[in-house]
Amino acid sequence: MSVQYLENENIFEIRTNQTSYVFGINEKGTIQHLYWGAQVEAKDCAYVLKSRLHSSFDAEIDRETEEYGGWGGCHYAEPALKVSFADGVRDLKLRYEGYRIIGENEILLRLADVYYPLDVEIHYKAIPEFDLIERYVQVRNGLNESVRIEQVMAAVWTVQALPDYRMTHVTGRWAGEYQLRSTVLSEGKKVLESRRGFTGPHANPWFAVDNGKADETSGNVWFGALGWSGNWKIVAEKSTFGHVRIVGGVNDFDSAFVLVPGEVYTSPVFVGGFTSCGFGQMSRNLHKYQRDYVLPTSKLRKVLYNSWEATEFAVTVEGQKELAQQAAHLGVERFVVDDGWFGQRHSDRAGLGDWYVNEEKFPNGLEELIDHVKGLGMEFGLWVEPESVNPDSDLYRAHPEWVYQFPTREGTQLRNQLLLNVGLPEVKQFILDFMTTLLTKYDIRFIKWDMNRTVTEPGTVVSGQDVDASMWIKHVDHLYAIWAELRERFPKVEFETCAGGGARIDLGILRYADQAWISDNTDARDRLAIQEGFSYAYSPAVMMCWVTESPHGFNGRSLPLLYRFHSAMMGGLGIGANISKWSVEELDEAKRYVELYKEIRPVILNGDLYRLSSLRDSNVAAYQYNSTERSESVVFTFLQSQHFGAEVRHFPLQGLESHASYQVQTDDGEVCVRHGSTLMNIGVPLMLRGDYKSRMIRVKRLE
Ligand code: GLA
Repeated sequence: MSVQYLENENIFEIRTNQTSYVFGINEKGTIQHLYWGAQVEAKDCAYVLKSRLHSSFDAEIDRETEEYGGWGGCHYAEPALKVSFADGVRDLKLRYEGYRIIGENEILLRLADVYYPLDVEIHYKAIPEFDLIERYVQVRNGLNESVRIEQVMAAVWTVQALPDYRMTHVTGRWAGEYQLRSTVLSEGKKVLESRRGFTGPHANPWFAVDNGKADETSGNVWFGALGWSGNWKIVAEKSTFGHVRIVGGVNDFDSAFVLVPGEVYTSPVFVGGFTSCGFGQMSRNLHKYQRDYVLPTSKLRKVLYNSWEATEFAVTVEGQKELAQQAAHLGVERFVVDDGWFGQRHSDRAGLGDWYVNEEKFPNGLEELIDHVKGLGMEFGLWVEPESVNPDSDLYRAHPEWVYQFPTREGTQLRNQLLLNVGLPEVKQFILDFMTTLLTKYDIRFIKWDMNRTVTEPGTVVSGQDVDASMWIKHVDHLYAIWAELRERFPKVEFETCAGGGARIDLGILRYADQAWISDNTDARDRLAIQEGFSYAYSPAVMMCWVTESPHGFNGRSLPLLYRFHSAMMGGLGIGANISKWSVEELDEAKRYVELYKEIRPVILNGDLYRLSSLRDSNVAAYQYNSTERSESVVFTFLQSQHFGAEVRHFPLQGLESHASYQVQTDDGEVCVRHGSTLMNIGVPLMLRGDYKSRMIRVKRLE
């Protein structure tokens, strides 16, 4: 039993394998947070359970550690729920009404306003094995009139008083996503958010908080990740009484909406966790949680070829067939045609929205290519961008009223495209219909679903059409509903989430997506940083990585093929180079690496990741993947550049069995046998010389 109510103390405990999460009902009926961290005896927390008053300026300090508080009375912290009632009352006083324990791991608490029948249910679900708690809320309007919801957050996480607080998060931009940052939290707020209509490359709804001293292997870390692919907000607020609370949910910016009588709003899930073993354990817990609780399937990612960087819009059946031939020779398992196969899509200026096969490019239909790809033993996949439209398209000419736009002004075009208002039932139906036609007519086993611009002018030019601020939420709700429906109709098809790279990856979309395109930047060196940042929150099981050309277009940097493969073997392996132009030697070399990848793939995708060393603070990056039974490890090492002569480096490994013996093999063929304790305390010796050098080491337990 992970959840319990201690009646005498009026306290609730959620207990996971390593943690306790304790809250109680104080004498004022406030649900007061008491403790979250390493396991404690819950009833010992009872003495903290009391309302606190400091002065008439800080009359209800306990409200700052409320599990879920409405804005009203003396509540001044970032509110979890802020409403306006139809009679003009803008004050919410939520009072505890009762609880219900569901099964072993779930508990819900009921709150209601002291006067109006506005009910709130706070849901908690323990994931004991990964020391996580999933939280979400449901708000029900029991009045006979509508209630305006101005802010509704999924959860509030309180971190106990620490001498210092540091928040770790990611930031970035197109082609530079998932850059790690950490910042001291002093009194006031640090806000992470998206107002661009999707998750965004500029921030990602994940956070970690520690006392400034945690590292990869040690220290207390509190963390959380929100499952929402639209506008979101995570606010970390340090009060002047010394604690930090983190509030997160759908962004309230421009998002007030109306709950009609009887209507229920359900928030996204905000999962939170605690570990006393540093950032590495935090990531492993999140990764395993995604594999076991979030992702739609547990299939291993296929080795994929994607034609985008090779051909861009110059798609021809002959060119694609040639690429497919080479891809099959390399051992690729799935061949994906990217943008440019449909409508009048010869550049990014036209065609988006016209989801029929371009007959000039495919005179015998798409079947010719699909049959070719299947004949070569690969699956066929296709790129789509269903939420967008070029003004120069048949779709826009037929339905100009379907796009987001306000009257009295032009809609902003980004990449020459506008966005469809997916919240409209007819647009949702259009997307479902054309996707169903494509997936029924052709033997397509994989869809790369892209979205290449931010949302602007979120309104409509059609008078009488109801596009209020709730569109931000409706767009995402309908997107999820479309993906859910397509997965149901086409269970054999796998989906990739892409938004101009990694701009729509979060625990919401990952309930529907099998894999993620994490950046348009495929430079193998830049990718080490992007992939490392990504791995803080998200699993290698969904992370697609790419081998592309050298020198690479972004930085003009040349990198050896081995380095490019090593960088791309750390998640799902993809190849995106123009392999029609590769030499026989390059193809043979690549073929060997693909074979090798297939051998190590289960360890990479299903194993435990240990970040041994980072280029953020060292000249060498090293990442270790352990199989779950700890019988096998794969270690990738990357030297940035050599200085002051050669040096043998040792990388102490992690997570092995100290008393077992292991065979250690480097990819230049050296083999030796070492004790687990030696490998974990002294490490594997490694000579890396030169610039941009990489090595892979395989470690296998001897039975
Ligand atoms: C986006 C994607 C790329 C590619 C192009 C096609 O930029 O991130 O991978 O699919 O669109 O236009």
